[in-house]
Amino acid sequence: MGIQTIGVVGCGLMGAGIVETCARAGYRVTVRELDDAILAAGLARVHNSLDRAVQRGKLDADTRSATAGRISGTTRLEDLSGADLVIEAAAENMALKQEIFSQLDRLCPPHTILASNTSSLSVTAMGAATRRPAQVIGLHFFNPVPVMPLLEIVRALLTSDETLAVSQAFGAALGKTTIVAKDTPGFIVNLLLVPFLLDSIRAFESGKATREDIDTGVRLGLGHPMGPLTLADFVGLDTTLFVSDAMYEEFKDPRYAAPPLLRRMVTAGRLGRKSGGGFYDYS
Ligand code: CAA
Repeated sequence: MGIQTIGVVGCGLMGAGIVETCARAGYRVTVRELDDAILAAGLARVHNSLDRAVQRGKLDADTRSATAGRISGTTRLEDLSGADLVIEAAAENMALKQEIFSQLDRLCPPHTILASNTSSLSVTAMGAATRRPAQVIGLHFFNPVPVMPLLEIVRALLTSDETLAVSQAFGAALGKTTIVAKDTPGFIVNLLLVPFLLDSIRAFESGKATREDIDTGVRLGLGHPMGPLTLADFVGLDTTLFVSDAMYEEFKDPRYAAPPLLRRMVTAGRLGRKSGGGFYDYS
């Protein structure tokens, strides 16, 4: 069956982008956050982004208010029980995600598809926390979600053909190009991105070049929109570390081993753009 209403768990950077993108595509979206203050901050993120789209002339005022009208917020997971598709965008913590999947499985009707935006954890393991593993899938969006044209669909071991087909149609309805990855660490994009980011950090750490020259080299020599150290700051150094640790844990391949500098920066609270500083200063 087709998707009409969406539930989103988590309204952080990725969750807010997913909420906005779904609402702009015409879906009714209910997003759940842990408490009223976090929910208000998440919804403000969505509304600010819609306002910026109006200011840039990408959205007219009527469409903006119709889009905002399709979005509602809640602190109760039960309020997502009417959704045809629930996308989990909570913290990258398997125990937490399995608990959310298990609760959603109890709350939602049998047809509901349960998806995760995880960038590093096993979707098969999330499906195992439910009684509907055939309807569990990975929908991995990219930051900034409203802008990046890709949706990486992760087919877990037990995901059905129908769940995959509905997810591909949903991605197309959002205006995204979809690719299908197996449920292996890093899927497709992070399998390639993470060693590249870590090599760039190692090059900087070992004094091979300045951070600016590493980034300029990649930007102008390879045509990337951002250099790798800027991109690591943009993704978040904690997220970069988390993903590389998860991949190293699984592959035991030194290409995925986090450089000491990255770990120390995260320990020191230099998490990139969101904390005001990472490889660069954003204060
Ligand atoms: N929300 C909505 N729109 C945004 C936005 C945001 N957060 N940030 C930028 N935009 C829009 C701008 O408004 C602008 O739109 P228009 O062209 O329609 O006016 C467009 O995006 C370009 O933005 P800017 O001109 O301000 O800046 P830019 O040209 O430098 O582009 C960028 C910004 C899109 C972020 C670009 O630098 C880029 O593509 N960077 C690479 C991002 C990337 O690689 N993301 C993937 C990270 S990996 C990941 O997410 C997955 C994971 O698991 C780790």
